[in-house]
Amino acid sequence: MSERAILLGTARPGGSPQEAAYSLAELAQLARTAGAQVVGTFVQTRARPDSAFYLGRGKIEEILAHRLAQGADLAICDDELTPVQQRNLSAALGIRVLDRTQLILDIFACRARSREGKLQVELAQLNYLLPRLTGLGTVLSRLGGGIGTRGPGETKLETDRRRIRRRIAELRRDIDELRRHRRVQRQGRRRTSWPIVALVGYTNAGKSTLLNLLTGAGVLAEDKLFATLDPTVRRLRLPDGRHILLVDTVGFIRKLPHELVASFRATLEEVTEADLLLHLVDAAHPARRQQEETVEAVLTELGVEPARVLRVYNKVDLLAPEERAELERQDPGVLSISARTGWGVERLLESLSRRLNCGFRRLTLSIPYEQAGLVEVLHEQGHVLSERWREDAIYVTAEVDDRTAGAVAPFIVRRRKSPGQMARR
Ligand code: GTP
Repeated sequence: MSERAILLGTARPGGSPQEAAYSLAELAQLARTAGAQVVGTFVQTRARPDSAFYLGRGKIEEILAHRLAQGADLAICDDELTPVQQRNLSAALGIRVLDRTQLILDIFACRARSREGKLQVELAQLNYLLPRLTGLGTVLSRLGGGIGTRGPGETKLETDRRRIRRRIAELRRDIDELRRHRRVQRQGRRRTSWPIVALVGYTNAGKSTLLNLLTGAGVLAEDKLFATLDPTVRRLRLPDGRHILLVDTVGFIRKLPHELVASFRATLEEVTEADLLLHLVDAAHPARRQQEETVEAVLTELGVEPARVLRVYNKVDLLAPEERAELERQDPGVLSISARTGWGVERLLESLSRRLNCGFRRLTLSIPYEQAGLVEVLHEQGHVLSERWREDAIYVTAEVDDRTAGAVAPFIVRRRKSPGQMARR
């Protein structure tokens, strides 16, 4: 049976009412994703949350009456709570109280599939929990399981301080080891010299849908937040014949818990080291601008230069023609697509080709038969435009990057920049 949750939030006096409504709507979606049923929402306008109770006493009386009438068993606050606020509010309402961070961590715990994902989420959960355990341990054990007490893979989260400390040390060690392993894997991928494109975007922007459309990857795509947690890497052939590696990453969200960003650093390294980041935006979302800004802020925090990011508007099938025209007026030249219908995807791929082309040069080669293996290398690493097996040698014209050009240097008979490179200059 699903837990019945009341949502609590604050709005700043003079702040935008839309902003507060949007934040609460997103919290409701997060709560449903975690399996709760929302049975009430309360927002109090105040300059800052009450330091002891988060909300004012009068409001708490009102919420208590509602919680009794509705039989709610959980309250979820839109802001991160201090341990004191959490304890007091829980005592005043007589139910478990969680904050947005815990809710997001809980969703991640339920959705983590890979070993690395599970370790990272558990580390984030325990780092969050440790400073909050005074008094809360008893609240947690008294009220049994449920959202916020679940660890990765159906386990129950540890609540004993000493054991938590030991577990945190273990998790850090295991994650470090996996990180080293991942680095080796990445270096392996680097050797193939296929460009890496990372898909980034706000949660629910349609990243998995696009990855599935392009590569048939079979990645879970659903109208829930954070359907994908573990990065998926797939190979894709662009219309010009060149291969790229496409990496799907975890979705971003407002107020993404910093414990989570910290423990997901290893995963996010995939993003920061990509040749190009494709920032997918849900063009039909009412809070599109805020979502874009959230993603851009996280990317800046991760040290990604804006020049490496290609912004793409998705879900344009949901826009009326005049809305689409307005989008193009605001941002001329922006790419828009529908990952659901495939509209605009061809143009997106061409644009990727052009953007990734700049390191490539066109070579004409005369390869002796005893070096015929190099033709295979050119097919794998570059884009072969023509290939003629003559009596004296194999004649190939291909576009390749600098590294591959170095490997075949003795056999070059002509070199020039690729058309993509010339167009960009
Ligand atoms: P996270 O895993 O939360 O990061 O989400 P995601 O960015 O991978 O989004 P996902 O592909 O799971 O899509 C979210 C929802 O949007 C799904 O219900 C998709 O069917 C829907 N969706 C994706 N692309 C489009 C589109 O172009 N048009 C419409 N109408 N819906 C889309």
